[in-house]
Amino acid sequence: MAANPVVPGSARWSSRAAFVLAATGSAVGLGNLWRFPTEAGMNGGGAFVALYILCVLLIAAPLLLAETLIGRHGQRSTIGSAVHLARESGASPLWGSLAVVGLIANTLILTFYCVVAGWVMHFVISSGSDLIGALAGGNALAGAYADSSVAEIRQIMPALFSDPTMMVVWQAVFVALTVFIVARGVKGGIEVAAVWLMPTFFLLLLGITIYSSITGDFARAVNFLFAPDWSAAFQPGVINAALGQAFFSLSLGGGAMIAYGAYASRETKLGETSGIIAFADTGVAIIAGLAIFPIVFSVGLEPNAGPTLMFQTLPAAFHSMPGGAIVGFAFFVLALFAAITSSVSLLEISVAWVTERFKAPRTLAALVIGLFVFGVGLLSALSFNLLADQRPLPFIPGFENFGWFDAIDGITSKLMLPLSGLITAIFIGWFADKRLVNAETDLSGGVLKAWRFLIAFVCPLAVGAILVLGLFPQILA
Ligand code: PHE
Repeated sequence: MAANPVVPGSARWSSRAAFVLAATGSAVGLGNLWRFPTEAGMNGGGAFVALYILCVLLIAAPLLLAETLIGRHGQRSTIGSAVHLARESGASPLWGSLAVVGLIANTLILTFYCVVAGWVMHFVISSGSDLIGALAGGNALAGAYADSSVAEIRQIMPALFSDPTMMVVWQAVFVALTVFIVARGVKGGIEVAAVWLMPTFFLLLLGITIYSSITGDFARAVNFLFAPDWSAAFQPGVINAALGQAFFSLSLGGGAMIAYGAYASRETKLGETSGIIAFADTGVAIIAGLAIFPIVFSVGLEPNAGPTLMFQTLPAAFHSMPGGAIVGFAFFVLALFAAITSSVSLLEISVAWVTERFKAPRTLAALVIGLFVFGVGLLSALSFNLLADQRPLPFIPGFENFGWFDAIDGITSKLMLPLSGLITAIFIGWFADKRLVNAETDLSGGVLKAWRFLIAFVCPLAVGAILVLGLFPQILA
């Protein structure tokens, strides 16, 4: 047991269910609703989905358990917990670097995450006022933005992009919301948000999926997502994207799950809960795909629109569907809820570390880091307009042509998260005290053996290989 557990009683989940909801809330987010369909659409659909599921099963789910156990064992911030386990295992505290890379990566992710969540807020308001208009006009079953043409709807997003002030205002509002919740603490802020928002999220998602399967082109979406074109799977870019997505979507590599694990009670069975969280997150990604693509296909739009799929293609699709005004609004509310429960986990990692390391009050830590996140996030927000010409990473293969937004997204999810996941796997698989680790997993027999094999061999080899391939795709060519 930790000699000096740092996590105070108020910073503990009140139940196992609260832990599962909060961790699932962290995992389920824009990564599922926006990034997964985007990546699937751009990387050939089924092949990407198949690789993604493989990455989750063989790499991400085992790592999820590794992260939560580091946190629960250490009962400290992510860095504190990793260093603690290293010391207890008689290993170098330098293994704590896994959490340092992670902390930097996750703080960087939060910078652009708040920008995208800001777009979501913009759409909540615009689809909300559209819905009010439809209801006032006595037409509850109107399509979304019924008074506009499809061309006009597709302009909402570019119009927002060409208005830096508006974008920055939304970004600021979302950062402020995240700071507010995290400042209220683990139980009083993060848990309350998760317990209210996640069940509502699941209900809305279920409703939209049913709607979409009835009104949309469901068969084509199923075919697109589940009938892999295997020739596409062997493109290094696709493998890399699938692994990056698995890390991003399960909130892995950065330590979010270490942070949340630290607030879990001794009684929580981590092996079991990690399985539930991984299953729920993957399920939501696939259901989100099944909610979004039928609508996109039914109106003859293309799945490979990229990041604008959710904001340009989807609203245009809702336009011609009965009840589209209601469903469109519900969809963006759902996305906003998902984004909030994830952004708080991204912020919590650094807030926990700063309060532990500098004994700073939580509110102050949240405010200062929030300001930093907002400042750096401006680069991503403005890369769609004022800074559109800047290419910050000309020296990294594959990143030469990326603006700030894509550069920060790419470097964190495709490089930093897998790198820190790789260090975590090697640390837990080879250097951490086996007895301590095994006891924390709450697994036994064959399942424990299988998990140890995945963590010690499969994760390091696969992640290492995919990282190298991502950087030097010419190897396969
Ligand atoms: N998993 C979150 C999502 O899918 C994003 C996230 C990444 C959260 C990393 C925490 C850490 O939206």
